[in-house]
Amino acid sequence: MLGYPINMVTPAEEFFAWRNELAAVGFNQFAFNNVGNPYDHSHIPFNCHPFEKELIDRFGVIYGFSLDNIWGFLSHSGTDSNMHGLYMGRTILKNRAGVMPKIYFTKEAHYSIQILRDLLNLEWVVVGTLTDGSMDVADLERQLNAHPNHPALVVATIGTTFKGAIDPIDGIQSKLKGRTAYLHLDAALFGGYLPHTQFAADLLHEVSDPVSGKKQKRYDSIAVSCHKFFGFPSPAGLFITTQTNFELFRTQFSQIHDPEYILQVPGTITCSRDAVKPAEFFFFSSESSFARQTVDAQSILDNAAYLMKEMTNHYPHLQPTRTNNRSNTVYFRKPSDAVVSRYCLATMRMDRDGQLMPCAHVVVMPHANKSILDQFLTDLGKRHD
Ligand SMILES: Cc1ncc(COP(=O)(O)O)c(C=O)c1O
Repeated sequence: MLGYPINMVTPAEEFFAWRNELAAVGFNQFAFNNVGNPYDHSHIPFNCHPFEKELIDRFGVIYGFSLDNIWGFLSHSGTDSNMHGLYMGRTILKNRAGVMPKIYFTKEAHYSIQILRDLLNLEWVVVGTLTDGSMDVADLERQLNAHPNHPALVVATIGTTFKGAIDPIDGIQSKLKGRTAYLHLDAALFGGYLPHTQFAADLLHEVSDPVSGKKQKRYDSIAVSCHKFFGFPSPAGLFITTQTNFELFRTQFSQIHDPEYILQVPGTITCSRDAVKPAEFFFFSSESSFARQTVDAQSILDNAAYLMKEMTNHYPHLQPTRTNNRSNTVYFRKPSDAVVSRYCLATMRMDRDGQLMPCAHVVVMPHANKSILDQFLTDLGKRHD
């Protein structure tokens, strides 16, 4: 499997020991349920809210959130986390401006953003891209100026699905200054590993102003998939935002949601939520897990650079491209169907020099070591007729 962002490495043995410990106290043995807000008292017992809160805090710290202003939960997937980010953004902006926001994202964003846009009944303002596939902030500014009467819900993708491009957070923020806006980051894949690399600062939620020393927020919420980089063995997602955003959201949410039945306003769209996954994913938030993630992060970036170099040397006609040095993705002209099928490559038609060209990509995940990549490179050179 080289074509999709799935980490095929079996988790560390300690993870399965942790699972057994959880099972011994009843997790996955009867109906635990994480209904409700993990940061609030729950009237309904048999949840793992303390684990859930602690793991959000721990990941929040590596994304630069302040522990005195953080809120989040473990969702069902990256898409589910994106859904909560967009719903929260829509709710806050609509309340602030009195009209529905328009949603701004590029055609390189994941297809699930288009589905969520439809679900949330938002009008899509398509923002153009630069040649590397990242958001063109000059076009964003033009589009914002063309819609001055609506607040802006902007989705920045940190690691676009096909090209691995990165929408520039600070460039986007500079265009949102003075406007009623909410910036959500879809960092489904890159959000897992960037915090463990030399590029950790890319995803920091706050930075200090060099002159005043005052903390400045760079984005409102972030979504990260747990089954991608981390290799958690079932779909789940991190959703992290600030307590401030959550309170603003909850004030509105409480008007459409009657809290009487569960004695709180949960802040989550779904009522019942999995209690096993947060308890299990908690394992991935320990110091030793972070250390393992650091090794994996380095190896995927090194191996992506290796694949890019070898393809450039041996298969220049495939026009391999690695969009930036943070990306673990290399895309190229579609090879033979046999190679596409053997390595489960995703293919897409892409505009290259004004022509639609079938392309494929390799997403270098932790299992894609040099020997697997060498095998792939050898197969690329074989005739398959
Ligand atoms: C950029 C991006 N966002 C969102 C998703 C969807 O994430 P999930 O599969 O966790 O729902 C993907 C999946 O590949 C993705 O690449």
